Amino acid sequence: MKAVVLVGGEGTRLRPLTETIPKPLLPFMNRPFLAQVLSHLAGHGVEEVILSSSYLESEFHEFLEGRGGGPGVTWITEPQPLGTSGAVAGARRYLEGTFFVVNGDVLTDLDLGALLSFHRDRGAVATIALTPVDDARPFGLVEREDDGRVLAFREKPTDRIPGEINAGTYVLEPDVLQRVPAGVMVSIERETYPDLIDRGEPVFAFPSDAYWRDLGTPEAYLAAHLDALEGEVGGRRYERPLVGEGASIDPSAAVGEDVVMGPGASVGPGASVRRSVLHRQVILGEGAVVEGSILGPRTVVEPGAVVTDSVLAEAARVPAE
Ligand code: GDD
Ligand code: MG
Repeated sequence: MKAVVLVGGEGTRLRPLTETIPKPLLPFMNRPFLAQVLSHLAGHGVEEVILSSSYLESEFHEFLEGRGGGPGVTWITEPQPLGTSGAVAGARRYLEGTFFVVNGDVLTDLDLGALLSFHRDRGAVATIALTPVDDARPFGLVEREDDGRVLAFREKPTDRIPGEINAGTYVLEPDVLQRVPAGVMVSIERETYPDLIDRGEPVFAFPSDAYWRDLGTPEAYLAAHLDALEGEVGGRRYERPLVGEGASIDPSAAVGEDVVMGPGASVGPGASVRRSVLHRQVILGEGAVVEGSILGPRTVVEPGAVVTDSVLAEAARVPAE
């Protein structure tokens, strides 16, 4: 089995962090998030993954050169952003049989084998994994029959309603790509799925209660870390707080159990941190206070400064007091 992982978005909602780090490479529990996505795919028998992006491409090359283990990765340069369908179509020469597509910012322990069997049993051309939410507005709302047949796909609905939304994991047949024009921006959510449904093609949806979160906003990125610290993600346990290699905490500092410190980060005397993620080599000066925040790599919070509910860019500096 092969999979296309969509990694080419600009991660606008996570700026300024994503000005230097592409969203799929932001650390999650001190590992690049993409490493987590790739090991989930490998765990379900995916042997080859195709990736493409035109945004911060060199960062991906660095990550790919440094990694080991499966699955194999084929990189395609996307000359300009081609959208979610355009990116998959751009990989079509590598896709001979049934394949997976996953959004590169989704944290889930979805059973891909069960999704694939469901797809095959129904003879679908496309199967979309679903997850329930209270407010569908940030997502793609899917309406379906009891047997899973999709009746409608509405990306970013305007009304605040609960429902089953597109979880960003698909099984597709190569035929789906036939009508996607090459080299132009095409959205799978706004164009390809509505078009397939209009033409009466068998598009199915697979409801699931697996752990699921889209990490694309600061609130969700932080919440996913808190979930992981509480052991809610795939049953995996972590030390709390999670302290990266070479990180240091002054004995008079207070670091909550709801904190992740990246490698080489340091918390100075009398400083306090709660509900936060500090990336590698962050420095908190004496008496600094950090709460509800995400601090990019090498950020410096000078003595006595207070940072709450904030997202700080790589190498940001918060002046003293
Ligand atoms: N290669 C490539 N090229 N990838 C892209 C492009 C592009 O032009 N545009 C977006 N992507 C990637 C992003 O990097 C991300 O991994 C994925 O496609 C989805 O884009 P997002 O920008 O994160 O979309 P969203 O979160 O607003 O909505 C999508 O995900 C929801 C679930 O998390 C949609 O698929 C919704 O329908 C869905 O509910
Ligand atoms: Mg997203």
